[in-house]
Amino acid sequence: MRQHISFNLNGRPVSMDVGAHEDAVDVLRRRNLFGARESCGQGLCGCCTIKVDGVPVSGCLTLGLKLDGAEVETVEGLEREGVLDIVQQAFIDAGAFQCGFCTPGFVMMASDLLARVEAPTDEQIKDHLAGNLCRCAAYPEIIAAVRAAAEKRSAHAQV
Ligand code: FES
Ligand code: FES
Repeated sequence: MRQHISFNLNGRPVSMDVGAHEDAVDVLRRRNLFGARESCGQGLCGCCTIKVDGVPVSGCLTLGLKLDGAEVETVEGLEREGVLDIVQQAFIDAGAFQCGFCTPGFVMMASDLLARVEAPTDEQIKDHLAGNLCRCAAYPEIIAAVRAAAEKRSAHAQV
C-alpha cells in the first residue's frame, strides 16, 4: 500500500507516493539524492544521517511516511548555489576521508554540532560524532576538519 506525502526537502516542497515499509534513504534516492547511504541498516553507523525538523536521525530507521509534513535536510542541502559550505570544504581541505562512504553522515553531524556549539572542544567533537563510524579510520583528519571549520566560521563572523 502506498501513501501520498508532502514535505520540504532542502528547502523545496516535494510530493510523492511512498510505500508503507520504504525507509527515508530509499525515498531520498528516488529524489536523486544519494548522499545519505545505507550501510548497517540498524542505526549503528551514521552513514545515513539526515535531519528531520532540525534533528539528526538515521535515515535507515526512519520510515518514509514519517517525512510527511517535515522539514528534511540532506548533505546536498548544505551547498549553496554550487558552493560547498564551510564543513564540506573543511573535510576536503583536511583530507578527512579515504573511501568517502561515511563522509556525508559525518558532515551532517559536524554541521549539526557547529550549529549548536560555536567553538567545540575536541572532546565535544568526539562526543557528537560518536554515533558515526569510519571503516577507513580517518578519525584524526575528521576531528581536524571539524576544528578547522569551527575556526574558519569564527573568523568569518569576526570580519
Ligand atoms: S545505515 Fe543507518 S545507521 Fe547505519
Ligand atoms: S572514509 Fe571510508 S568509511 Fe570513512
